Parts: sequence; structure tokens; C-alpha cells
Amino acid sequence: MGKLGEIRITGGIPLNGQVAVQGSKNTALPMMAAALLGRGISVLKKCPRIADVFCMEEILQGLGVHSWWEDHDLYLDCRKAERGKNAADGAGKMRSSVILLGAMAGRFGEGSMGYPGGCIIGKRPIDLHLYALRCLGIDAQEGETEIRVSGHPLGGHISFPKKSVGATEQAMLAAALSCEETTIENCAREPEIWWLAKCLTAMGVRIQGAGTGCMHIQGRKSLKPYSMKVPPDRIVAGTYLLAGAATRGRVTLLEPPGGELNTFLELYSKMGGQFQWNSGKLITDSQKVCFPLPYVETGCHPGFPTDLQSPLMAVLAGIPGESAVRETIFEERYGVAEELKRMGAEITVRGDTAYISGKEELTGASVKAGELRGGAALVIAGLSAHGETRIAGCQYIRRGYENICEDITRLGGKAEEEAGEYLYENIRLLEKPE
Ligand code: EPZ
Repeated sequence: MGKLGEIRITGGIPLNGQVAVQGSKNTALPMMAAALLGRGISVLKKCPRIADVFCMEEILQGLGVHSWWEDHDLYLDCRKAERGKNAADGAGKMRSSVILLGAMAGRFGEGSMGYPGGCIIGKRPIDLHLYALRCLGIDAQEGETEIRVSGHPLGGHISFPKKSVGATEQAMLAAALSCEETTIENCAREPEIWWLAKCLTAMGVRIQGAGTGCMHIQGRKSLKPYSMKVPPDRIVAGTYLLAGAATRGRVTLLEPPGGELNTFLELYSKMGGQFQWNSGKLITDSQKVCFPLPYVETGCHPGFPTDLQSPLMAVLAGIPGESAVRETIFEERYGVAEELKRMGAEITVRGDTAYISGKEELTGASVKAGELRGGAALVIAGLSAHGETRIAGCQYIRRGYENICEDITRLGGKAEEEAGEYLYENIRLLEKPE
């Protein structure tokens, strides 16, 4: 296996300037699955060129989809899609592959997919996905190495016992090609759900209630392809604003995700951050960031997003005073705390809560990313630390951040990636996450 790359950061420089926000990973992936439902060429405009998208692209190619890129526009020609054999191969590299099950049942009336991978932030079960498929009359069987579905989806009534973004997307994709009505209760309300509904509506599906807790979906026997811009990534946007907060700089986001960062911005203000919306830009000033956060908890949207929990912890580690962050979505999302402690952070994890005694300054060190957002947290900590930080495992960061080093440099910071020998050209994933 080739040498994995690492990111080298020189900390202590306030980030100043403006930066564009890439397309949303967690919106692009379900949009790619939706393309399979249409018998034509769908286009994802301003699609992020990240490892998870390339991985999903490969899985779709295994299903007979012809794909190509024109700059950041991804074309998916699904006219000749057919149930492929190696759909199971790429599945283990990412979480989203699992939502192709519903799309395959709709398109082909059968399909199989390897068990999903994804960041090691908890058990990541798929029981709610299987429940949703079975509610729509699909026979879903768990085999040794793959999940097999058979039967075209019927309409049905799904009532989720707990909110799940992926399982909600699974249900929407499965219901899209059913001519009967489907009702989904206790849906996830994340922006990604609303955007997927927008995409499916463009294809001809009738959807009411997207973004609320209850959705009504009226599918159709055949759907049109779509051409749609991938919205800006709210987690990347939050990551960059937190990098500004960690370095007490002034970061402006171009084309930020409007209305998707409200809870985050409330916390940012409580830390002393100042922001304003001005002609489509989000202008932030972190020079007065100095207040710890006595208690924060992650939650389903519109709560504070779990994907910003580790990046926030990295900022709080450098704000003197006592902070506490409670993770309510995933059961093992504090792995990065041990790495932050190597940089001098004082963090104690007790159950689902991390208690942080913030310090004036962290110290650069050699650390290792174990998953995507923990990796982003180490980048933030490195930017605020005194001296140099070397982050190994940057292939995890590349799963979700297209240009994190270039963007930091554009903001006046010092970050460079010593490229590893990637198995694929460009930035595709080299190794399967544990
Ligand atoms: C999506 O993961 C995102 N990934 C995650 O982002 C995000 O953290 C998460 O939603 C929550 O917002 C993508 O969109 C590709 P869930 P997903 O199903 O769908 C449990 C990132 O960094 N659950 O909403 O896998 C689950 O264990 C990634 O970009 C079941 O019990 O999350 C968790 O505790 C990380 N059974 C909770 O529900 C199931 O069948 C929420 O998970 C499915 C999930």
C-alpha cells in the first residue's frame, strides 16, 4: 500500500480574507443515487471533487452508468444502467452506498450492495434502512458480505422509531418510482433531505412536507433526469468559520449556505464572534472570540450539527475557561480528543460529554486523523497552535474537503499537503476505513 500523505500546518497566523464554499458532500451523494432513477443524463453542477463522490461515481459505473466531468459539473448518463455485479465492491469505502439499495429496487426491481463503510464514529447500523425498504414491500435480505433487495417498491407507510438522515433518503429514493403514495413519519429534517426532495421533484416526483417531520411522496413509473446545482456544504462552511475563530481572524464566506448555519452562528456569537450577511456573503470577525461555552449539545437539525462537534471542540480547547460538549447522535465521536491532548488540550470525556479546560495556546505536534471531521478538527487545532503540526491520515480529510490546504493558504494561513501515493489518480481513497 502506498505511503499515505500528510498535512503540515504552521500555526499562530490569524486567517483573513474570503473563501468560496465547495458543494455539499452530503447532498451530492444522495443526488447521485437519485440520478439512477432517471432514464437519461443527469447533471450535478458545482459538484465537489472529493473522494466520497469519486467512490459513489465508481459504484454507479459498476451499475452501467456512464459518467464524466466538465470542471465541477458531473454528468451521469443512466440510460444504459443495469444491475451490476460489482456494486458490492466499492460499498465498504463509504456510508452512502447503502442508499443505492432503494434506488436499485426502484430502477431494476432487484440489486445487491456490500455493507457500507463510513467514518468510525459509532456502530452505524442499517436497521432503519432495511425497515424502510420492507415497509415499501421490498424483500431485503442481509447476507454474509452484502445486502440483497428484490421486488419493485410499492407505496406504504413508514414511521421511523428514530430520526435518520440516510434512512430517510433511502425511503425517498425507494418511493420515487412507486406509483402509489408513501407516507414517511419522523423523517430527518436536515437540509440534505430538502435538497434531495428538490432533486426528485425536478425528476417528476410529487413530494409534500420535505424538511418537516412528515413527508407524503407520490412517485411515478418513470422519471426524467435532472440538472441541478449542488448547494454549498454547510459543514465545510462551519469548519472554515471555526478555523477563523481558532485563529481570531476575519473570514468571509462567498456563497455561503443561507439559513443552514443558524444554530452554529448562535454559538459563534456566544463565543464572542461577530458576523453579518452582506450581499450574499457571510462576513465574520473572530478577533473578540474569548468566551468558553459552558454547555453545548449536538442534535438533529435544526440543532447543532454533530459534524461540527469535533471542529468546535478544537476551538474551545484554545479558549481559556470551562466548556462542555455533549454528543447525542453518535456513540463514538470523541476519538479526536486523544490527538488534541497530544497538542496540549485538556479534555476529559465522561460518557457522551467532553469537558474541555481551554488554554491560552496549544502546541504543534504530530497527530493522526482517524475519520473525516476529527481530521478537520486537527487542522483547526494546528492553525491555532504554536509551531508546526503534522497530520497523518489526511486521506480521511480528503473524503469531504476538496481544497482545505489551498483554502487555508488563500486565507493567509500556512498549510500544505505532502501528497501520498494514492491508489487512484487525483484524490481517490487509498485505503478502506476500518
Ligand atoms: C449522515 O449519516 C451524514 N452522512 C453524517 O455525516 C451525519 O453525521 C449524519 O447523517 C447525521 O447528521 C452522509 O450524509 C453521507 P444517521 P447517516 O442515519 O445517515 C443511527 C460526515 O461527516 N442509525 O442520521 O449515517 C445512527 O447510528 C458524516 O459527513 C440507526 O440506529 O446518519 C446514529 O446514531 C458523518 N439505524 C443516528 O441513527 C440506522 O439504520 C443518526 O444516524 C441508521 C442510523
